[in-house]
Amino acid sequence: MVKAVVLGASGGIGQPLSLLLKASPLVDELALYDVVNTPGVAADLSHISSVAKITGFLPADDGLKKALTGADIVVIPAGIPRKPGMTRDDLFKINAGIVRDLAKGIAEFAPKAFTLVISNPVNSTVPIAAEVFKAAGVFDPKRLFGVTTLDVVRAETFTQEFSGHKDPSQATIPVVGGHSGETIVPLFSKASPSFQIPADRYDALVNRVQFGGDEVVKAKDGAGSATLSMAYAGFRFAEAVIKASKGEKGIIEPTFVFLPGVAGGEEISKATGVEFFSTPVELGPHGAEKAINILDGVTEQEKKLLEAAVAGLKGNIEKGVEFVKNPP
Ligand code: NAD
Ligand code: LMR
Repeated sequence: MVKAVVLGASGGIGQPLSLLLKASPLVDELALYDVVNTPGVAADLSHISSVAKITGFLPADDGLKKALTGADIVVIPAGIPRKPGMTRDDLFKINAGIVRDLAKGIAEFAPKAFTLVISNPVNSTVPIAAEVFKAAGVFDPKRLFGVTTLDVVRAETFTQEFSGHKDPSQATIPVVGGHSGETIVPLFSKASPSFQIPADRYDALVNRVQFGGDEVVKAKDGAGSATLSMAYAGFRFAEAVIKASKGEKGIIEPTFVFLPGVAGGEEISKATGVEFFSTPVELGPHGAEKAINILDGVTEQEKKLLEAAVAGLKGNIEKGVEFVKNPP
């Protein structure tokens, strides 16, 4: 039996993500939590003739406790999205507190659940969740994930003309680092099956993967950021975690994890100089079973991208850790 919970379920991501989870045969129970509108969203989804039993909660009457109790997997898309001209870090002021408080709820009511953080800035919100879990004595690094799947999905889509796949998701293109601008590093040289990108197209393609989010923010023109593609990506990652937890083997997805707490991660942490980093991770019954180091043998161009990513990541991670350790 799998109980999935969406925190921020009434939002632009939350609604289509809840739809995909409701439609999935892998989910037996689905609890929706938000500060607004969950009764309506839950009532709407409850008419779908799929397996999952659905419930909706608001903060009143212990709603968070009721939503989280018995959870196996919790996905967090709660928080404000960007408007044109904003960076993801500009969201920290509001979203840091939202993620901290929701993480406190998970620590209390569902300490063994897999926690998947979508709320931006992911480079800081995941360290925030980790610090909250540590303070509560329940931190299991194998169970905490920053969702960076949308960067992978974009890399697959934007390189289709070179990878040659009719279905672009058939390409495996690792994207490592973090989830904002220069901290996003597509490692095209590590794609499998391998393919060539013409030299005169390389910089533009890297830039498009790094700043794909801005493309959507600009096109939505003040109405938010990526929601539908994010729901697709969030569901893809959640499904991978659930399938692996049920014993399916060989599932590998890049995700932003606390490296020292995952087998194989220490080596990547030493090589990069950061503790939180997105790298391909082999998923298993207990979550992140193994962090896979694919940084050896990258190209000189990719080395430069990695240096810039790590420089940006350090400050983002520190900011998240400080927010919990020394609250403003
Ligand atoms: P949205 O404003 O449409 O929805 C956010 C939802 O969160 C709203 O329904 C709101 O009521 C709810 N919420 C606010 N405070 C809450 C709280 N304390 N508890 C529960 N729910 C709360 O925003 P969106 O477009 O769905 O984006 C959500 C977040 O996801 C943003 O921070 C955005 O930047 C981020 N995002 C991340 C990725 C990624 O790749 N990781 C991609 C796209 C968006
Ligand atoms: C994205 O990559 O689309 C998200 O992180 C949302 C954003 O702010 O760009």
